[in-house]
Amino acid sequence: MTDPRHATRQPPEEGTYLRQIKSYVLRTGRVGPGQQRAFDQFGPRFLLRYDAAQPLDTAAAFGRTAPLILEIGFGMGAATAQIAQTRPGDNFLCCEVHEPGVGALLKLCGEQGIENIRIFQHDAVEVLEHQLAENSLDGVHIFFPDPWHKSRHHKRRLIQPAFVNRLARHLRPGGYLHLATDWQPYAEQMLEVLNAEPLLANTATDAGLGGYAPKPDYRPLTKFENRGLKLGHGVWDLVFIRR
Ligand SMILES: C[S@@+](CC[C@H](N)C(=O)[O-])C[C@H]1O[C@@H](n2cnc3c(N)ncnc32)[C@H](O)[C@@H]1O
Repeated sequence: MTDPRHATRQPPEEGTYLRQIKSYVLRTGRVGPGQQRAFDQFGPRFLLRYDAAQPLDTAAAFGRTAPLILEIGFGMGAATAQIAQTRPGDNFLCCEVHEPGVGALLKLCGEQGIENIRIFQHDAVEVLEHQLAENSLDGVHIFFPDPWHKSRHHKRRLIQPAFVNRLARHLRPGGYLHLATDWQPYAEQMLEVLNAEPLLANTATDAGLGGYAPKPDYRPLTKFENRGLKLGHGVWDLVFIRR
């Protein structure tokens, strides 16, 4: 019998990963037994098959039409599951390349009956480029993207002018881009890049916050973030709207 996990999981094609600088390094993290079961049991329901040749039929993928939010890099998916449950009227299209994280979110979706999440275990940059149309997104979430601290790695950071322009073009007018980071130099880069993108307008109006937004209520505080805040570390949210 075909293992549904292998029917839905797709390793990158040889060479694909050499063409472009990636925002991640694929770690060979161990998929735990619970996550493995989640792949088997819930994969067919929640995983989408990446297909560079076909735009995604989102109504078919979700079984309904609703505002579409793209999340890039959900990690272990705890915040994602919480957000989807507090916003049942929205569809969440979630991309992550780290396999144990995909297993963890599948487990949450299956066990908690979260119907408004679909998952690509694939590079979000490629999903955006090949499977999603311009003006098709109502929101984009990128929470705590890898900060790539060393300057020789800055080129791997997701938030760069060309990618932000692509994100902006994929948003519908009035759609939002929400970024969060706990690394101040990256927050500053984010603010500079987003401010320079003519398609985007900053929603932050409180001059005291210096261009950053108050944390929107739907974004839960993660355990990690909570610990950091108690130690006096900062977190910066940025919320921009497509003009
Ligand atoms: C530092 S983690 C943050 C995870 C989560 N958002 C959180 O707040 O805990 C960044 C995640 O983004 C994922 N990632 C990085 N680049 C990606 C890409 N191009 N497509 C999909 N996932 C990506 C990484 O695998 C990693 O799990």
